Amino acid sequence: MNRRKGDPVAPSLDLTDPAAFVRNDPYAYWQEIRVRSPVFWHPPAAGRPGFWVVSRYADVRACYDDGQRLGSARGTVLDVLLHGDDSAGGKMLAVTDRPRHRALRSLMLRAFSPRVLGEVVRRVEERTARLVEETVGRGTVDFAADVAAHIPLNTICDLLSIPGRDRAELLAWSKTALASERPDGDRLDALEARNEIVLYLVELALERRARPGDDVISMLASAEADGRPLTPEEIALNCYSLLLGGDESSRMSAITAVLVLARHPGQWRALREGRIGVDTAVEEILRWATPGMHFARTARCDLTLGGQRVRAGDIVTLWNTSANNDETVFDRPRTLDLARRPNPHLALGHGPHFCVGAALGRAELRALLTALTAHAGTIEQAGEGRRIYSTFLHGYSSLPVTFRPRRSAPRPDRP
Ligand code: HEM
Repeated sequence: MNRRKGDPVAPSLDLTDPAAFVRNDPYAYWQEIRVRSPVFWHPPAAGRPGFWVVSRYADVRACYDDGQRLGSARGTVLDVLLHGDDSAGGKMLAVTDRPRHRALRSLMLRAFSPRVLGEVVRRVEERTARLVEETVGRGTVDFAADVAAHIPLNTICDLLSIPGRDRAELLAWSKTALASERPDGDRLDALEARNEIVLYLVELALERRARPGDDVISMLASAEADGRPLTPEEIALNCYSLLLGGDESSRMSAITAVLVLARHPGQWRALREGRIGVDTAVEEILRWATPGMHFARTARCDLTLGGQRVRAGDIVTLWNTSANNDETVFDRPRTLDLARRPNPHLALGHGPHFCVGAALGRAELRALLTALTAHAGTIEQAGEGRRIYSTFLHGYSSLPVTFRPRRSAPRPDRP
């Protein structure tokens, strides 16, 4: 088992198994870990290296803030790190360290300027309202396929001005690249899907450099970071990071939103009647859903973490699912409270790599809740949802629900 002498170990759950949290309750597991082994060394599995597991809120947040000693350039997802370094390291925002990260980030933030975002959010609201209105009263629907699948990817495609005819294929690749709908999902399929997306975006980058438009690809194609233009590969990788960062996570949050509203009719009623505001509800749903279960770093030097000696080069995983349910920060964390305040969850990360698309992710959820409260009277789960198998993402690939129309006109939110 190659356990390192003196390293603390935790109860037996293989965190490299994509089915680990489909077959086991993550909240009970993490509750025990936070008490027994808040920072522990996960032994190597299937010939892959071992890694550190950080579970308490304060430690996870401190690690996010410590870009100096904990780097992202080798990769930020456990599965990628266990199979070698991320090939996009140093080129794509999420897997780049300072100082290059700072230059790339300020470039990417321009893509999310209020001017650009305002128009994209307006289209999200329109699209969401239309989809929800069409779905309510239609009998049982699969919320994942019929509604959630059409919102985030189209939003990012709007940002990038991706032609409508290419969007369905892009969604299929995006789904394959990160998670799997089967427990034995193929890594090669995922890599192939990722390559397809990058190749497609390189072509678009070359086209837009020659004939710029008013979109994020054109903006990246004509901008400079650290005094030099981005290469077509860098443009493609950074657009890809918007697609992957923004599609799955938002989709998973939207599906979980509907699931929790169906399972908590009292909270749903309070939201629908305006006794709970949409903004606090969005934050609680993000905390509850925590679609990115972990993010990872690599130690750039020897350091001490939660009393443990971490060595330079060690992989360190930060478990958002655990941090967001840490009872020292969140009172009764598994009680849904859509009015919870304060709600300093880490679902969108923290520190230098804090989610660059946070405003958009939140706007998508806000649009969904607003459309639901306007059109739906009741939300009923109409069958088991199908969970995705992933060591990274938590959520559902299918969710049968029935929305019954609301009878009276919607009332505005309480002041
Ligand atoms: C970073 C979660 C929506 C693009 C992150 C991080 C988290 C996160 C936890 C930090 C990763 C780290 O520290 O290594 C989420 C969730 C979302 C969401 C839960 C939806 C509910 C979006 C959207 C976009 C996006 C809509 C783009 C359109 C990115 C990018 C980064 C990032 C590019 C890297 C930022 C950097 O390294 O500086 N996201 N995200 N995300 N997210 Fe999001």
